[in-house]
Amino acid sequence: MNNSTYKIQEEDFIRENITAYLNRHETKDMLRILTCGSVDDGKSTLIGRLLYDSHMIYEDQLEKITKDSKVYGTTDEDFDPALLTDGLKAEREQGITIDVAYRYFSTDKRKFIIADCPGHEQYTRNMATGASTCNLATILIDARYGVITQTRRHSFICSLLGIKHIVVAVNKMDLVDWSEDKFNQIVQDYNAFVSRLGFSDIHFIPMSALKGDNVVEHGENLYWYDGPTFLHHLENVNISTDRNLIDMRLPVQYVLRQNLDFRGFSGTMASGVIHVGDEVTSLPSKKQSKIKEIYGADGKIEQAFAPQAITVTLEDEIDVSRGNMLVPVNNIPHIGNEFEAMLIWMHEDPAQSGKSYLAKHTSSMIPCVLSDIRYKVDVNTMSRDKNDSEQTETVYSLELNEIGRCHITLHRPIAFDPYEKNHSTGAFIIVDRLSNVTVGAGMIVDRIVSKPEHLKTPVSQNIVKSESLVSAEDRQILLNQKGATIWLTGFSGSGKSTIALQLEKELIKQGQLCYILDGDNVRHGLNRDLGFSMEDRKENIRRIAEVAALMNDAGMIVISSFISPYLSDRAEARKVIGEEAFIEVYVDATIETCEQRDPKGLYKKARAGEILQFTGISDPYEKPEASEITINTECIEPDAAALLIIDNLVSQEFIR
Ligand code: ADX
Repeated sequence: MNNSTYKIQEEDFIRENITAYLNRHETKDMLRILTCGSVDDGKSTLIGRLLYDSHMIYEDQLEKITKDSKVYGTTDEDFDPALLTDGLKAEREQGITIDVAYRYFSTDKRKFIIADCPGHEQYTRNMATGASTCNLATILIDARYGVITQTRRHSFICSLLGIKHIVVAVNKMDLVDWSEDKFNQIVQDYNAFVSRLGFSDIHFIPMSALKGDNVVEHGENLYWYDGPTFLHHLENVNISTDRNLIDMRLPVQYVLRQNLDFRGFSGTMASGVIHVGDEVTSLPSKKQSKIKEIYGADGKIEQAFAPQAITVTLEDEIDVSRGNMLVPVNNIPHIGNEFEAMLIWMHEDPAQSGKSYLAKHTSSMIPCVLSDIRYKVDVNTMSRDKNDSEQTETVYSLELNEIGRCHITLHRPIAFDPYEKNHSTGAFIIVDRLSNVTVGAGMIVDRIVSKPEHLKTPVSQNIVKSESLVSAEDRQILLNQKGATIWLTGFSGSGKSTIALQLEKELIKQGQLCYILDGDNVRHGLNRDLGFSMEDRKENIRRIAEVAALMNDAGMIVISSFISPYLSDRAEARKVIGEEAFIEVYVDATIETCEQRDPKGLYKKARAGEILQFTGISDPYEKPEASEITINTECIEPDAAALLIIDNLVSQEFIR
């Protein structure tokens, strides 16, 4: 290696003690920095100054720049720091930086990677590319112009991409006579809009990158500022608590089969910590095993954490393939084929609702449909598109650089987390199917798919409820019973329908009027327009609850038999029907038992991938937390279960 490529200040030290030098570097932590600013804010100058003043420039480079300064320089001086970083000749001639450039340097305290993103409007995509792995973002502001549209846009994207630490570099202070008032005004303006963006740490530094004040050295001119310099802040900002060490996620990139006895699963840890002996679940199959060995770059290790690249072996021969994910047994991500996400569009051809694309998520590439573009975000005000409150119709496209909240449907389920919780398993990119070009970047908001507001409140305005001339009591006396809903919930095959049939038979025998509402039946009529997405299940349950409430009002005892897998949907049903009339019965049977029973052969199909979003296999079931009755069908016969429920009806005086 050529000596001139070492940093000047470290040369002697390296010569004296190379081992100590290498050790020192190995144990240093790394800060990834994103720099964003408009074309003329002085971004390249800042980075150049940082490298120059901290003696990070390679000698041969320096010589060339001094020469170039005379040709391209914008400073009328012998040395223009911007020329250090405006690497490409084409860029220099245009006077702008075009693509994301990464620069590496280190000081005694830390190693740094700077992602240098261009500032002009149409390059939001580069910023998103550079930002996703950064710990800290530097937002450059030209002291003469203060907070401008770009500042807001960049801050918003940083927040969207989950960057927690922000340094607002108020540059070109030399051009505003080093004015403290000017600086304070900018601090105030920035704070006024940024409060909604959720950064955990914002730091303001007045500086002149060109003259060097407050970049590495304090300098004389900004005597009124007593905070740290830019470099000092970068060296000391605490990022150790930013990492997600809780939710272990290992997306499998390769399956290694070196010989018959060795099956290793390789990937880069997305988050969390993994130890030998940990119990893991492989997704989406949900098969479980234990970590037998972990191999790191230098051989066997006992534990590993994100973002290490590792290979693990398992105690059992379970089926794990590329694109699967290993997670802890008691901390699994969502599994599903649809979610809502914030999407940044990066291509001249607009994003189209209903169009098919490819989604790259961790190690998988999956066909997907952009099923809905729900609203756009106005990055200047950071609010929803103005029209949105008045318009109930969907916005159909996203233009280049626009950001919108979208609903995405994948062709097969994946394991994911909300981006807020996990940057790797919560992010994805959208690729055009024909050109293979990246056209969008998305951050998963949550699996919750919300229903349009118009379904919650009546659409019509001029409607008045009319009162009946007979009361609920009149009907009770007539029917000799009080309306109630027995809400059976549980896996498909748990025994809900069987219990419902027994209960109906027994109640009728005792002279009580009742009626069964059953998923499979209702889905042939009233709810034939609904599938099994989270959104559709919610609507399924909402309609059933409304029907049950009407039937209860009519004096009928309703026996409802629906998987109703989500706690929130059942809570909503309870509200619609009324706490006093709602009896939740958890029909409890393990998923293994239900799969073994498989009365309709659906589990078999779900395992074969012929049915998507199948509860218990590829879709979740949220157990009741406090149901009125639990019936374990592995030990209670259907007729006994029916009598148990009737006892409850009697004790609550719905029937005598
Ligand atoms: S719910 O989740 O919306 O409450 P519901 O009880 O109406 O479901 O319907 C469940 C029935 O539909 C199951 O008993 C099964 O026969 C059938 N079915 C078909 N596809 C699915 C699926 N993907 N998940 C669950 N059940 C399904």
